[in-house]
Amino acid sequence: MYKADGQRIQQVQRGSLGGGASSQEREFTWSSEDFSRVQRLIYQRAGISLHDGKHAMVYSRLSRRLREAGYLSFDSYLDWLEKSDNEDEWQEFINALTTNLTAFFRENHHFETLAEMLKSKPSSTAWNVWCSAASTGEEPYSIVMTALETLGNQANFKLIASDIDSKVLETGATGVYRIDGVKNMHNERLRKFFLRGKGRNAGMVRVKPELQKMIDFMQINLIDDNWPFKESFDVVFCRNVMIYFDAQTQRKVLEKIHRVMKPGSTLFVGHAENFSDSRDLFLLKGKTVYERL
Ligand SMILES: C[S@@+](CC[C@H](N)C(=O)[O-])C[C@H]1O[C@@H](n2cnc3c(N)ncnc32)[C@H](O)[C@@H]1O
Repeated sequence: MYKADGQRIQQVQRGSLGGGASSQEREFTWSSEDFSRVQRLIYQRAGISLHDGKHAMVYSRLSRRLREAGYLSFDSYLDWLEKSDNEDEWQEFINALTTNLTAFFRENHHFETLAEMLKSKPSSTAWNVWCSAASTGEEPYSIVMTALETLGNQANFKLIASDIDSKVLETGATGVYRIDGVKNMHNERLRKFFLRGKGRNAGMVRVKPELQKMIDFMQINLIDDNWPFKESFDVVFCRNVMIYFDAQTQRKVLEKIHRVMKPGSTLFVGHAENFSDSRDLFLLKGKTVYERL
């Protein structure tokens, strides 16, 4: 069989795997060599360490890419990916393998701490904040809602929201969510910050433009060496992303985050993340809250 560009699609029968379905049921040829190759490639590109229990997840998430690109085996798809300089497909590959779970006001104690911090300084204080694994936007919108509630509409508050995944950034910039996603939010917040969809948008909400105006969504890979920042940050959120990195990558990313933060500034991390090995850079100040030294 051939792809549109005339390239031969090979179906190679190799070592089979426990990828959720038996090899007979699987749509695409899938071997342990393919899994190791995906592990290596996503580690190089995104720093993500996929452990061996992720076979089924990888198979199912990448199958869609094979189908859309017209390949019948992982082997031929990965050959093509590695040989081509197709940045769009690399982006699709990364998007398929990131885990984007998030929620409005997830780990709410961080937003309470942020509110206290904002209140503790004069209202004219300028805040430069980075949300570094922003996923579909619920986290950065929760940050700016906290800023507006605490500082009012005159807030001197700038937020950069970034992620490696281009698809989630689009969702974040659009700011449209299923109404289910805000079901635990109190009414005052809902009325103040969201518009309710009508007609064919029923069941959806949209964040108000004043929230969107406070956020710059941009693509940043945490493992890249050159981040595009001109000013250093007062607050950084880096939550629930380092769990996907190994210890060596975590340390490198922490060193870089340290370099873009002001001394005495605050780093919020995820509930399962602990950087006590990096106490030369960050001092634990509260539950998953660190001060930049
Ligand atoms: C589980 S979500 C966490 C979202 C949010 N921070 C929260 O705590 O709710 C992890 C996010 O990290 C992003 N991510 C993974 N590797 C990344 C990298 N190398 N650079 C930037 N973002 C990355 C993923 O795309 C995903 O959106």
